[in-house]
Amino acid sequence: MAALSHRALRELIEMFGACDEYFTEMISAGALISGGPFEAWYTDPGPCPKRLVYQLVGSDPEHLAAAVSLLDTHECAGIDLNMGCSAPAIMRTGAGVRWMASPDRAGALMKLVRKRTKRRLSVKLRIGMEDDFDYLVAFCKRLESEGVERITLHPRTAREKFKRRPRWEYVGLLRAALHIPVAGNGDIADARELVRRAAQGCDAVMVGRLALRAPWVFAQARHLENPEGEPLPRLPERIDLEAVGLRFLELLARYQPQEFHKSRARRFFSYFCDNFTWASYLKTRLARETELSAMAALLSAYCRDHPEERTRCLSLSPGLS
Ligand SMILES: Cc1cc2nc3c(=O)[nH]c(=O)nc-3n(C[C@H](O)[C@H](O)[C@H](O)COP(=O)(O)O)c2cc1C
Repeated sequence: MAALSHRALRELIEMFGACDEYFTEMISAGALISGGPFEAWYTDPGPCPKRLVYQLVGSDPEHLAAAVSLLDTHECAGIDLNMGCSAPAIMRTGAGVRWMASPDRAGALMKLVRKRTKRRLSVKLRIGMEDDFDYLVAFCKRLESEGVERITLHPRTAREKFKRRPRWEYVGLLRAALHIPVAGNGDIADARELVRRAAQGCDAVMVGRLALRAPWVFAQARHLENPEGEPLPRLPERIDLEAVGLRFLELLARYQPQEFHKSRARRFFSYFCDNFTWASYLKTRLARETELSAMAALLSAYCRDHPEERTRCLSLSPGLS
């Protein structure tokens, strides 16, 4: 997720117990191949290169192919192409979900990039420009025939952004229509829902915004899936939200360039603060700060003023996340 799924977040999630795979933020193919000043940060593979999927965004097939060749030299779990982003700035350039408007163009792109890597090649997409399931299946079959090995579907249309519920039933139907694994994504609200979705009609579940609000959700899901199976790292009974927020700021300082600190901290807290009663007050105050140390002081002051909110029970009973 842009400005969110960087190394600092991955390190934070690993603290609680890993998740199976991490996607990088979408990396601009053009910037990557022209050696932009921040590319080393975007491609930082830590802390677990083998479980990292690099995601590329772009509209120029030659740029994307060159970027795939470049990433092919990095140890990773796979390379993903973004055909799902519906942000106007991305769509305007012909990238993201715009690829879904042109199956021939997308098929030709896949033929080209397939030759550049032996890594697992995947695509993340939406239903398409319109709600047309048959079109989605035909589009994905085309990708499959060109060597795409996995699809992640966020089952909303381009226009819907985050409006209306995601059509999770499409994930199962798409999986039944293809020969490759299909992961589902959209509106996972807690660990229970994550486990339930993973067990029903999809090969994997991708979690987006919840990973920011509850970076411990993957550890919780593992415990739910495996109540008395293999030994797992202990899940704390209570999460110290102040400590998690402060740890994130430390990780941000260590693993991201100074130029990114403010925007990335603001993005993270725009989700993480939803753990607190006075979330919008805290978000607004944090957004005004430019230094990470000032953000840390604000978070600590909030927790001092509202001591009952500083920790949260991690019970796995229904309704708690
Ligand atoms: C701030 C933000 C940035 C995002 N950036 C990306 C991105 O870089 N690549 C991508 O495939 N999806 C991106 N997404 C979409 C998410 O991956 C995901 O499809 C969407 O948030 C729905 O899942 P969720 O309900 O679990 O968050 C982004 C979403 C948000 C809110």
